[in-house]
Amino acid sequence: MIISKSVDHTSLPVPDSTALAHSQRLCHRIRETIQLNSGAISFTRFMEMALYEPGLGYYSGGAHKFGSAGDFVTAPEISTLFTQCLATQCRQIISEMPQSSILELGPGSGRMACDLLQELEQNNALPEKYFMLELSADLRQRQQQRIHEKIPHLANSVVWLDRLPEQPFTGVILGNEVLDAMPVYRLIKQNDIFYELCVSNTGDAFGWETVTLNSQLQQHVDIRLGEAALGFPDGYITEINLQIYPWLNSLAGLLTRGVILFIDYGYPRHDYYHPQRTEGTLLCHYRHHVHDDPYLYPGLQDITASVDFTAVAEAADHAGLQISGFTTQAHFLMNNGLEKLMNQNQLTSAMDRVELGRQARILTMPGEMGERFKVIALTKDFSIPLAGFRTFDQRSRL
Ligand SMILES: C[S@@+](CC[C@H](N)C(=O)[O-])C[C@H]1O[C@@H](n2cnc3c(N)ncnc32)[C@H](O)[C@@H]1O
Repeated sequence: MIISKSVDHTSLPVPDSTALAHSQRLCHRIRETIQLNSGAISFTRFMEMALYEPGLGYYSGGAHKFGSAGDFVTAPEISTLFTQCLATQCRQIISEMPQSSILELGPGSGRMACDLLQELEQNNALPEKYFMLELSADLRQRQQQRIHEKIPHLANSVVWLDRLPEQPFTGVILGNEVLDAMPVYRLIKQNDIFYELCVSNTGDAFGWETVTLNSQLQQHVDIRLGEAALGFPDGYITEINLQIYPWLNSLAGLLTRGVILFIDYGYPRHDYYHPQRTEGTLLCHYRHHVHDDPYLYPGLQDITASVDFTAVAEAADHAGLQISGFTTQAHFLMNNGLEKLMNQNQLTSAMDRVELGRQARILTMPGEMGERFKVIALTKDFSIPLAGFRTFDQRSRL
């Protein structure tokens, strides 16, 4: 996603009455959960409900999320250049493993799937199947519509899933901006001790309550933050994603042979848990405004946290995967021939050339997506060096 300027709440667009009623239904459900719990719930549970509560959560409800009419724009929506470069990487992998498939996690609008399949078709490198794991019925319908409109002749090779496949999988697993949408715990340091920041119900609003860490969270705080945390200032807030461990375990169990590529915004651990990152990484996206209040219009806005890529690498390692590359989005795209693609693209006018240059800058400039976004490659039984990490492989920073 592209970060716009942080805004004060009063300048945010007010939802219409239907949307507000939808949000209030979700708030009611969350309040019931707090009551059933006889007290504050963890932030990870709140975030899970805000994003994925069946029929009500941001990703499970029917709101328009992606693109200019939605709340945020992701790289595949900004430019086909992104997907063309990703296709170059997929081609290299598929050429080493004939009869392999692609599994895309959280395919959003379906734009990346369409562009990727078109690009692979043009290069005679179509996968056996293109699986799309989509949890939201509404998004699945939008994806199906797009595939049938744009690439009807390839529709038969696309298979939708609502959970990970049960059969072993060989090929490429892709997740663009999926990790940042995973629910996280929030923590705060007070008087030299870390506490969990939980969600309580105060009147008709949600509030924060500090709760003693359970042993699992304490263990992760000790390992991830370590002694560096002693120097963190009082009031330091941060996040921890614990779902990544079982989730990567499942992905690794499924993969017989192949490559997992995650593209997302985040940092290696020493940058993530940095003494100056005092307010954590939680961000909310609402109609192209970015702010940090997860309690605003639950169900109508996206909530995200940056990715601790060291945790991803650790979870992958525990799950028996190799960490085969880690670099910035800019380098990944350039290593996959971005410049060549720009010169090759059939441009009909000078305007097209200007527009393509603008898109490439958004994808690669350090102040835009180029450095904030990283790409990590996790592999199983695949030892060929991956094109996307040919230069500037930064695994040593993890
Ligand atoms: C920010 S959107 C990104 C959509 C799309 N990949 C793009 O780049 O435009 C995050 C998506 O990840 C999905 N997601 C989150 N956790 C997931 C999981 N455990 N398995 C599959 N999809 C997941 C969400 O449902 C949502 O559709």
